[in-house]
Amino acid sequence: MSFRIPLAKPEITDADREAVVEVLRTPYLSTGPKVAEFEGALCDYTGAAHAVAVNSGTSALQLAIRALGIEHGSEVVLPSFTFSAVLNVILLEGLCPRFVDIDPRTYNCSAEALLAAVTKETKLVIAVHTFGFPVDVAAILEGLPRRARNKKIVVIEDACEALGAEVHRRKAGTVGDAGLFAFYPNKQITTGEGGMLVTSDPRLARRAAQLRNQGRDPSLGWHSHAEIGFSYRISDINCALGISQLARIEDVIARRQKLAETYDRELANIPEIIRPALECAVGRISWFVYPVQLEAEFTADDRDRICESLLQKGIATGRYFAPLHGQPVLASRSFAKGNSQKLPTTEDTKVHEGSVRHQPPSISGKGGSTPPETKQAPAAQRRNINSPARQCREGICNTDTVRFSGRHDFEEQYLPKTNFVAERVIQLPFFNELTEGQIREVCRALKHVIQDARCNT
Ligand SMILES: Cc1ncc(COP(=O)(O)O)c(C=O)c1O
Repeated sequence: MSFRIPLAKPEITDADREAVVEVLRTPYLSTGPKVAEFEGALCDYTGAAHAVAVNSGTSALQLAIRALGIEHGSEVVLPSFTFSAVLNVILLEGLCPRFVDIDPRTYNCSAEALLAAVTKETKLVIAVHTFGFPVDVAAILEGLPRRARNKKIVVIEDACEALGAEVHRRKAGTVGDAGLFAFYPNKQITTGEGGMLVTSDPRLARRAAQLRNQGRDPSLGWHSHAEIGFSYRISDINCALGISQLARIEDVIARRQKLAETYDRELANIPEIIRPALECAVGRISWFVYPVQLEAEFTADDRDRICESLLQKGIATGRYFAPLHGQPVLASRSFAKGNSQKLPTTEDTKVHEGSVRHQPPSISGKGGSTPPETKQAPAAQRRNINSPARQCREGICNTDTVRFSGRHDFEEQYLPKTNFVAERVIQLPFFNELTEGQIREVCRALKHVIQDARCNT
């Protein structure tokens, strides 16, 4: 479907086209010089010591986990409110996810929340710079429990949505043990498809490069396979586009900041809309999307109707993310055997009705959920769970606890904010070439459809 105002759109310049065509005039369409050139350019820009270019951000995450030696069955702490790629890789690698709730103002898990979820079984923390808002990775590294050297908890920064964001003046992705970027066409820069792993550890980079290309170790001789590897190479065509796009990344970030500021101004007179903060105490935001939330009185159905009305006016919107802790894919995992995948205390608003004191009516009159202020599940909700500690000991885990083996702390795993935000978030059109006029049109339309929704109830 084509929209008058799309949600996202890549910006491709004449210079980008020329760069791609130039590669097509050479015999080096893949495994040629542009791959190393793109890796070098990204290192120069981010300050990373080493970079390994791959065919997607998902591949970069998988290679990071492999190269870091995270073993099957290890516990990994991560946000639930993020892209499905992260959960897919975790499951592919046989890891046990331990999900963490978000801060609704930043869409990120705070450093404190991630650290609070770490147990003595945790081997990995994945800090995701969601929507380009930086997470304080320095504070995570600082706060991690000290363990023996070879048992250290490693931190992967998923900066797939955050190229150019900064964590205390260091580029997001370069603070943890490894960082990832992705270059799908809706990102700040694109290679068509593509990703990059960055690290300061030369051994990790070497291992990732080996895994990227069938596990081949060039030091062992021609086509010698040191280990089982993947076919995660990226072509020189993609990299040429990436080099050309990366050359103007600072300009792109500045333009996207201006777009966010324009949205902020234009939306200021819509009280039903919660705008994202334009600045972040951790460091610079690199705007990937422009997310707004509907006020607490709205339900997910209200939100969907509002998006549908905007669609009728030719304006595309997005709704991501669907929280990972509720994904049906978890139900089929052996570690989740017997898991009903119901989230009675976090997703079912009927359960909330029985246990939450203040329940404002929704605009559709069905009763919205109360903004989650407390960290603990209310007592009445906790009674709905049939001994989660016992279930987890027996390998039957309720998804509110979303830890699939061993003992667990039930209260810590309550994710009300994630669900609350996921039901009300709307991504508005956001791309480099979006004009002020289009933003004004989107905001006017949004105001009208919200008013219509109110009038019709
Ligand atoms: C947070 C996050 N992680 C990982 C990925 C995976 O990247 P790709 O789609 O290039 O595989 C994405 C993609 O958008 C993402 O947003």
